[in-house]
Amino acid sequence: MDLGIAGTNALVCASSKGLGKACAKTLAAEGANVWICARHADELERAAAEIGEACGGTVSAVVADVTTDEGREALLAACPAPDILVNNAGGPPPGDFRDWRQQEWFDAVNANMYSSIDMIRRCLDGMIERRFGRIVNITSVAVKLPVKPLGLSNGARAGLTGFISGIAREPAQYNVTINNLLPGYVATDRMWSVVDAGARAAGQEPESFRESFFNAVGAKRPGEPAEFGAVCAFLCSRHAAYITAQNILMDGGLYPGTF
Ligand SMILES: NC(=O)c1ccc[n+]([C@@H]2O[C@H](COP(=O)([O-])OP(=O)(O)OC[C@H]3O[C@@H](n4cnc5c(N)ncnc54)[C@H](OP(=O)(O)O)[C@@H]3O)[C@@H](O)[C@H]2O)c1
Repeated sequence: MDLGIAGTNALVCASSKGLGKACAKTLAAEGANVWICARHADELERAAAEIGEACGGTVSAVVADVTTDEGREALLAACPAPDILVNNAGGPPPGDFRDWRQQEWFDAVNANMYSSIDMIRRCLDGMIERRFGRIVNITSVAVKLPVKPLGLSNGARAGLTGFISGIAREPAQYNVTINNLLPGYVATDRMWSVVDAGARAAGQEPESFRESFFNAVGAKRPGEPAEFGAVCAFLCSRHAAYITAQNILMDGGLYPGTF
């Protein structure tokens, strides 16, 4: 299927590795001009070169911290009129809520709620004027299935989800959609660090913990970043104009509910 996004401008936040990079790669393969970003220049430059080599097209790298105003300004200075915006940032650390004070909560809400809201604020009206826009927020299965040690993520992402639900319907009349894409356990550095922290907390060897952990997933395996990128690219496609305000789970059947 031709996704119909060749020549569009796609800004993918937090994308030198992991899920963001996978989304950037698929969008580039579909012919979008892609801007990627991260805080560390070396890995970012390597990712841009890798994506450009694998997928062709224009891949631009912007060193920027997406959780700061300056970082978001740098991103929009490099790509002033994105047609596609993938919001993403690093996840908060695991822990016990008894240890978290105001700063820990402010950091999580800033990274995993406010940063996406501010990127949308900066991009949405331009998309509406141009009569095309696709916004995908990378959130988490934790929105539907809270992960106990990731309370900061459960809370901040639920806030973003509620906010998105309130704004995502009205722009659809202008061919602008906003959806959330919820990874379950997709094989990235972040995912392995969360799973291995679970092994330590349970006092188990990483290998046996990983095996029993993924046994609880319908697909019996972690997701592949490329699978995640493909779903993201479809949501960004011309064909997805009638999908908005949705929370789309990409969890291999981990979430056990009907809805
Ligand atoms: N993988 C999963 O299964 C899974 C499941 C649920 C939720 N999530 C969430 O999805 C998001 C992405 O996860 P991932 O697994 O792809 O993580 P990852 O493999 O650790 O990659 C994170 C990427 O984001 C960049 N980044 C982090 N903080 C940034 C910032 N402030 N500004 C700009 N770039 C930043 C990193 O580069 P720099 O460090 O150089 O900035 C890196 O490129 C996280 O919020 C994570 O909690 C992931």
